[in-house]
Amino acid sequence: MTTNSSISIPGVTASNIDGELLWGFWYPALRSEEMHGRALVTSMRLEVPLVLGRDAAGKAFALRDVCPHRAFPLSAGSCDGQTVECTYHGWRFDAHTGQCKEVPSITADSRLQCDRIFAGSFPCEERDGYVWVYLANSEGRAVDRTAIPPVPELPKFSEDFRITHLTADLTCNMDTGITGLMDPAHGPFVHQSWYWRSRRSIREKQKTFEPIPMGFRMASHAPSANSGPYKLLRFYGEQVTTQIDFVLPNVRTEIVRCGSRWFTNRTTVTPIRRDVCRLDFVAAWNLFRWFPVTPVLKFFGKRFIGQDQDVIERQQPGLKVQPRMMLIDDADRQARWYFQLKAAYLASQATGAPMAHPLDGPVTLRWRS
Ligand code: FES
Ligand SMILES: [Fe+2]
Repeated sequence: MTTNSSISIPGVTASNIDGELLWGFWYPALRSEEMHGRALVTSMRLEVPLVLGRDAAGKAFALRDVCPHRAFPLSAGSCDGQTVECTYHGWRFDAHTGQCKEVPSITADSRLQCDRIFAGSFPCEERDGYVWVYLANSEGRAVDRTAIPPVPELPKFSEDFRITHLTADLTCNMDTGITGLMDPAHGPFVHQSWYWRSRRSIREKQKTFEPIPMGFRMASHAPSANSGPYKLLRFYGEQVTTQIDFVLPNVRTEIVRCGSRWFTNRTTVTPIRRDVCRLDFVAAWNLFRWFPVTPVLKFFGKRFIGQDQDVIERQQPGLKVQPRMMLIDDADRQARWYFQLKAAYLASQATGAPMAHPLDGPVTLRWRS
């Protein structure tokens, strides 16, 4: 379990980066466009090997990519639109529930109850161009599908919008990847550039945060004057506001509004294994319709994410010999809340008691970035 033990320097907390995985959430497993026709596609999330596909009606399904018979990868088999057949001994499993439908080797008088055999299966939904899986446990044991929360959805504020996606792998555990999403202090150093911000543009910021279920919100505010892309929105001559939410396990969502125009984006950092994460970024907007926003966003977005990928990679040898991170003052307060939320979630999972929220009301943080 994550610990946040105080050490003796005033204003400094050390946090243990233990990379504990969080079960009981939806995670993006694939881009929708990676699944074609009846083909079976593999993915790994939270160290669970998955095989995904679509049934005859086009609905996505996700099974554990391990045959319950002799552990053969089901992804080597085929899907007939309703069942997935293992190619080793031909057992067939319902694509959505994993229930065994046929064991070809048994004779008519066999007492084997194949319907009592299950391949692991996971609730699966498509949203915003992603195939999401609900990972309640690593084996794909049945969960009450009516009792799980809805799939996360990117907020949109009009019928007519554009959407784009970016993906990158991060060679770190989920804690390093996620705290990187809420680390304002690295901006002017790692993301220095003429179009974003310079090191000299560093200035004092003050932001108000409030608790929300499973996370915290940077309350709606006018974006920082030293942040390049927001300046473009001045074109519309209306007040620009931005609001940023973080919710467990791994979701950062930003909503930018400017009159009837809007731009929203969401970043998730999902563990593939304990030491590698997949960053998924999706943005939607209804502004600058006369301008090719998508290629520009992809170009700058790739560079921006690449800068994070690079520092994370170079941080890894150090983290091996010094796994504890220092969390200082208000600049690292969000990271500390993340660890507290995570610890509270794990504790509530273990005890069944309601989850204790680290924030009991609005808090104003001040830092320079
Ligand atoms: S290993 Fe899958 S049917 Fe035997
Ligand atoms: Fe960054």
